[in-house]
Amino acid sequence: MSGSRIRVEPADIGVPENLPKELGFGRVFTSRMFSQRYSAAKGWHDALIGPYRTLALDPAAEVFHCGQMIFDGTKAYRRPDGDLNLFRVEKNAERFNNSASRMAMPQVDIGEHVQAISELVRLEHAWTPTQEGAALYIRPVMIATENTLEVRASRDFLHYIILSPVGPYFPGGFKPVSVFVSDQYVRTVRGGTGEAKTPGNYAGSLAGTEKALAAGYQQVLWLDAVERLYVDEVGAMNIAFVYEGKRIRTPALSGAILPGITRDSLLKLAPSLGYGVTEDRIDIRDVLRDIEAGNVTEAFGIGTGAVIAPVGRFGYQGRNYDVCGGEPGPVAKRLLKALTDIQYGRAVDPYGWTSIVKVASATRAATAAGASRF
Ligand SMILES: Cc1ncc(COP(=O)(O)O)c(C=O)c1O
Repeated sequence: MSGSRIRVEPADIGVPENLPKELGFGRVFTSRMFSQRYSAAKGWHDALIGPYRTLALDPAAEVFHCGQMIFDGTKAYRRPDGDLNLFRVEKNAERFNNSASRMAMPQVDIGEHVQAISELVRLEHAWTPTQEGAALYIRPVMIATENTLEVRASRDFLHYIILSPVGPYFPGGFKPVSVFVSDQYVRTVRGGTGEAKTPGNYAGSLAGTEKALAAGYQQVLWLDAVERLYVDEVGAMNIAFVYEGKRIRTPALSGAILPGITRDSLLKLAPSLGYGVTEDRIDIRDVLRDIEAGNVTEAFGIGTGAVIAPVGRFGYQGRNYDVCGGEPGPVAKRLLKALTDIQYGRAVDPYGWTSIVKVASATRAATAAGASRF
């Protein structure tokens, strides 16, 4: 592309065949990926959009021993006019850089990172599923590649971006999940790495999640690591509670909570729909009491994957607490519609959150030439 330091090789990689009917989440990947390397001497170099490929890494690469690695996630959405929308992609890039700082990794140039995403999405747009609620998931990653067993920041890194067509998060409909409140395992701690999107936070959550699954729940509600009383997050999502159908209450960012872009967007959007918003420290015992008293009328997880995932049940210390009759509530439905209408370009975006990747004319030309589409 002109004016860019990103090489595209080969220029033409063909149009994909039809996508599998059941895409799931992150199981199918497109034909190309972006990559660039970093060394202390050269900075970022060798920016390339090339074929999707297996990585060849030395077994001593630092990522395997220190886990020095970050990632992020955002989506491209098919608009009614055939073009694609990126959603708050600069904000996502800023979070990527914040994660990099926390993990002693180099910053990427925000403009170049966003350009790599836009260009990759433009080239791979034909992989974007068209069914309701589906999207092209974007996964940027950075890993430490210096070959050393020493425990110190690596001097060499690989930054790459892959794309995955994903189906609707709730293929069987918008159904509430049941959540096990973990007072044994914690996800992360203030001053730790909870604010960063780094794999250790997720690896550390797996044993607790397996335990919750074995007990018949689908997700874990994580409490703070010190008192094990204050609500942090649910699964890999932020969480909110609705009071009396009109006030949305979410834990204040504490350093242990990932600052979700969906969370931030809903906090900005909700007042325009007439809801109050509160960010504070939330004691799980108060919430459960408020559920029993009927003051908490809904609860939901918030994140890029599902946008909103209603919670129908909390299990805490041997007791279950049901919310909203185990059904999705009206506030969850209204927020989901308002935000996804902006993301998919079905409604005007008064916040300037979306940026368009122009592909509609290319799609029309390819379709006219007989290429398959999904
Ligand atoms: C731990 C965690 N919390 C919250 C979120 C939600 O963040 P976002 O809304 O930016 O997807 C995510 C997803 O990235 C996550 O992994």
